[in-house]
Amino acid sequence: MSCRILGIVGSPRHKSSTEVLVNQALEAARVTGDIETEIITLAGKRVLPCIGCYKCVEKKSLCIFKDKDCLGEIYEKWLQADGIIIGSPVYHLSITGVLKNVLDRLGEGIWSLRATSAIDSGWFGKVGGVITQGMATFGGQEYTAQYLVNHLLLMNCLVVPAEFLTVPGVVGSFKGNRVYEPGKIAEYDETAVKNARIMGKRVAEITKIVKVGTKQLKEQLPAEYSSYVLTKEGAEKILAIGKNGK
Ligand SMILES: Cc1cc2nc3c(=O)[nH]c(=O)nc-3n(C[C@H](O)[C@H](O)[C@H](O)COP(=O)(O)O)c2cc1C
Repeated sequence: MSCRILGIVGSPRHKSSTEVLVNQALEAARVTGDIETEIITLAGKRVLPCIGCYKCVEKKSLCIFKDKDCLGEIYEKWLQADGIIIGSPVYHLSITGVLKNVLDRLGEGIWSLRATSAIDSGWFGKVGGVITQGMATFGGQEYTAQYLVNHLLLMNCLVVPAEFLTVPGVVGSFKGNRVYEPGKIAEYDETAVKNARIMGKRVAEITKIVKVGTKQLKEQLPAEYSSYVLTKEGAEKILAIGKNGK
């Protein structure tokens, strides 16, 4: 049974170090077999912020501005993915602004469908892992990673830790590097690359376990598990609501 894993890169820079780590994670996921991967990088993209209009709630739809920028594509790929690997460089002790804009509208759009009962269940059961890296030692990697873990939990994802002795659920560089050039991380932090690969492998393996397990246990599980948990049909149903705005 093939699984889809989506990587989201929150750096606004092309060929960023975050992209290097997310790509490493995705490659390691593919090595486990039967995994398709896709990557969305926010580099060079302008993403509108959520303006709090609550039209998504009023219209029981995904963000009504989703076709004005890349949010439409992000909803589609997010909903179709079985596993998510999300990475951000540390910006001012947190995630980047452009990624925050994505997560606000992604989260609020999906939440509006749950809150208005436009979908029967908000239990998606996607598996997720997070990656971060920054310029300074203790530069805010833990806050950033925690933010992303909280985001995954809020989206009802199952957060996968990388390895014992890394910050729970987190991989990335904690090395003070003073390297301003994008994409150099592999040259100064082999451990970050290694941990990103472990993360990708684990996310792939746990995604398969959840997907196969949900199918196998279908008769024993509450109905909500078969509506949207890692099914292509579940994603399509939700995207159709988004398209019609009803
Ligand atoms: C606006 C801005 C804020 C930043 N804030 C932090 C910070 O709080 N802590 C830190 O360690 N690095 C900070 N950095 C440095 C980046 O996290 C670092 O250069 C990172 O390696 C960039 O990753 P990328 O190549 O994926 O874009 C900041 C950089 C920028 C541009």
